[in-house]
Amino acid sequence: MYDETLKLLRKLAHSALRHFATGEALQKLFSTTVPKLEVEVAKTAGKPVDPKDLISLLLYNTFSEMCFGKRFDMHDPKVLQSMKLIDELGQNIGLGLPEDVFSILRYVPYKKRDIIRETIKNKEFFMEQIGDHKDTHIQGEMTDIFHMFLNAQEKAMAEDNNMEKLSDEHLLWTIIDMFGASIQTSTETIYWALALMTEHPEIADRVRKEIDDVIGRDRIPVIEDRRSVPYAEATLYEVLRYASIAPVLLPHATTCDTTLRGHVIPKGTTVIMNVYSMHFDPREWKDPENFCPEHFLAENGTVRDHPPSFLPFGAGRRGCLGEAVGKAILFLIFTWFMQNYTFSKVPGKESESLTNMITKVNAGRLLVPYEIMINKRE
Ligand code: HEM
Repeated sequence: MYDETLKLLRKLAHSALRHFATGEALQKLFSTTVPKLEVEVAKTAGKPVDPKDLISLLLYNTFSEMCFGKRFDMHDPKVLQSMKLIDELGQNIGLGLPEDVFSILRYVPYKKRDIIRETIKNKEFFMEQIGDHKDTHIQGEMTDIFHMFLNAQEKAMAEDNNMEKLSDEHLLWTIIDMFGASIQTSTETIYWALALMTEHPEIADRVRKEIDDVIGRDRIPVIEDRRSVPYAEATLYEVLRYASIAPVLLPHATTCDTTLRGHVIPKGTTVIMNVYSMHFDPREWKDPENFCPEHFLAENGTVRDHPPSFLPFGAGRRGCLGEAVGKAILFLIFTWFMQNYTFSKVPGKESESLTNMITKVNAGRLLVPYEIMINKRE
């Protein structure tokens, strides 16, 4: 519900992301995570690998450090349990619950609602991080997002203002939301990107050539490179369009009476945006059914940042809070993979498609797990 509590928490999360997840701060987190990932990728040399765990390793480490100031061993059972919590919430909340559309339906038994209730009991990992932070927090400390949240809580207490909106439970779920919203979406997008780069080696070669010419191989990509490698950036945008991992957005409600193409929509009506239809609209895209980075290149070779029919991060007051962070982190991970590796199909399985989608998952357009060969570039 878009009430005063949500507005305050959204504002808090937004300033936390601005402080910890942009520019130099994000670049530093990424650079310190890369060596760890290199070691993990090297272990897969010559073997077929499902890259999803590698991608989440990178993202989980980056966001853990951002939120809690520490990294975790990916094989730590508590980390695995927390990832399961996020995964299951994502899978089961997906497009929302029936009561989001008709509130009376909250009284009708629904299996997914029960699964969600059970799943959210498994939040020990996050409770533990928060407990550690509260035990050691020094007033004014700003070393990670949770310390920043605790400062806001302390300020509310001191000023006797907004305390009920910044309870431990609110802060806990804001962090879990940020984890869930960032890691799953970014992982699935990069998972699509690597599948598409394996399926379209000619496009992948062109991306690599541009990276070699502009960035070279002696340093890792940085956020400022974005404008200098338009083909790579256009390819990433095309991944976001073609994958459309969130084909219909979260349910929202109109905040006032309105009309759309002559239809009256009263205040409080649940509305769900169909971005898939925008992303595959033949009136807006030259060849919507095919993967084609040129969709995002203007005639003068620059990137079309905001084509009118492109909303992978939603829009408006409830649009993605992490759009800027998401775009930056996708760019860093994608260009780093392309700079350092080539991808090929598993020998003997060349005719199998890597872009089959799981049907009946209401969380989005997710790929059936696949394996590829990741080859270190000479
Ligand atoms: C590939 C990356 C990402 C994609 C495709 C993506 C997409 C989306 C979409 C489609 C929504 C729903 C918008 C709507 O219903 O209008 C959303 C919401 C949200 N996203 Fe993202 N996102 C990404 C990355 C991130 C990151 C990195 C963060 C945080 C660090 C983040 C935080 C959020 C939050 C907190 C919301 C809920 C906003 C609210 O309900 O008010 N996202 N995202």
